[in-house]
Amino acid sequence: MERRHESEMWEIKGTVLFLWVLFAVCLRLNVEAKPSSTLETQIEAKLKQLNKPAVKTIKSEDGDIIDCVNIYDQPAFDHPALENHTIKMMPDYLLELENSNTEEGLKLEIFQTWQKSGSCPKGTIPIRRIVKEDLLRVASLDNFGRKPPQLYENSTDQENGYVPENRSSAYLLAVGYNYIGAQADINLWNPKVAQTNEFTTAQIWLKNNNGPYFESVESGWTVNPKLYGDGATRFFAYWTRDSYRSTGCFDLTCSGFVQIGQVVLGGTIGPISSFYGPQYDINIGMFLEPNSGNWYLKLKNNIPIGYWPAEILGSLRHSAIAVEWGGQVSSVNIRKKTPHTSTQMGSGEFANGRFQQSCFMRNIRIMDYSLQLKYPRDVTPIAQEPFCYTAINDVRPGIEPEFYFGGPGRDLPHCP
Ligand SMILES: *[C@@H]1O[C@H](CO)[C@@H](O)[C@H](O)[C@H]1NC(C)=O
Ligand SMILES: *[C@@H]1O[C@H](CO)[C@@H](O)[C@H](O)[C@H]1NC(C)=O
Ligand SMILES: *[C@@H]1O[C@H](CO)[C@@H](O)[C@H](O)[C@H]1NC(C)=O
Repeated sequence: MERRHESEMWEIKGTVLFLWVLFAVCLRLNVEAKPSSTLETQIEAKLKQLNKPAVKTIKSEDGDIIDCVNIYDQPAFDHPALENHTIKMMPDYLLELENSNTEEGLKLEIFQTWQKSGSCPKGTIPIRRIVKEDLLRVASLDNFGRKPPQLYENSTDQENGYVPENRSSAYLLAVGYNYIGAQADINLWNPKVAQTNEFTTAQIWLKNNNGPYFESVESGWTVNPKLYGDGATRFFAYWTRDSYRSTGCFDLTCSGFVQIGQVVLGGTIGPISSFYGPQYDINIGMFLEPNSGNWYLKLKNNIPIGYWPAEILGSLRHSAIAVEWGGQVSSVNIRKKTPHTSTQMGSGEFANGRFQQSCFMRNIRIMDYSLQLKYPRDVTPIAQEPFCYTAINDVRPGIEPEFYFGGPGRDLPHCP
């Protein structure tokens, strides 16, 4: 009797133990299930924060969804420093700066693909919608839309001083004066990007420092599959206050840039130039309005894009001290790493000074406090990996200077 009782007791204890184990297992499973649902939640939250309510939506034939968002609902106003910001349209004197001449052999009808499918109502601006797939391509949601930080290798065998890690540039440098504007006509191409986590740009940088730690405002075209999900050539704007470490981003993928125009940041542009065929370019200008400290971005034909407000800038709100025009490839397979990336820069051809072959910039100008556009003094072409990507500044008396840049990346035997 007592024995039976004892064994019954054991059975009960066993059952309780079993239930406990079951409970613990469920608890554990629940804990393990959590991270994925948290990621899901984080993505949903990020999408909600990035995409603002649309007054109208346009489906572009390149796959983009364009939301027409009330100008005061745009992402810029999520920036804490812009809480009380009032939008300031581009002053006429900046908008109507002398435009580059109509060039022989160059076609001007640049457009964005989405414009074939409609336009946005007055009081709204077109914004490229960010979708879940865009966020799933990044390792960390916090770095979405950001270039990798610009860090430097500590080596003394570099001819051009310290060279940044995981990026290779070929550019024209103007340094040593106070610049309050810069522009250029940038030839449009569609270079190949070899890996989805790499990108290539053709752009202008305005920086507050020519050293490793800088603030910049930037614009140009890029092929960036990780950010945009395809290999198309797209128009972009970029800013950073800390050499891409933790501030700033492409386009409107973070808060800061104030859009005022009807051009989609991150939207595809065309037509694209072809070898021995028609050539196209895009004129990009960035100009400081000294009273407000805002840096305005415009395209040729007096098309305003928007501005980087003084509130998000440091000393750059007073002037830039370095301007760069050129291309950059971002990849971990650069310099001593072999095989070198075969991501192309420019047209994919080395800079050779030949129209219809290698990518060029023309009408390169800076603006100083005289408020006149000038060809910069003391420019230096720099190629950080001259066997992979090159830079040539073609300056001849009486002729508009042309800056050529680009290359194929990996190219045996000199760029292995
Ligand atoms: C915006 O205005 C409010 C009320 O005047 C003020 O308390 C706040 O500090 C301002 N924000 C910024 C970023 O200037
Ligand atoms: C590079 O390394 C040397 C020796 O380790 C050190 O003295 C120097 O400060 C470093 N320079 C930079 C820029 O980190
Ligand atoms: C460069 O790439 C290497 C290899 O992937 C990585 O470990 C390093 O953190 C990268 N550096 C920067 C500055 O992104």
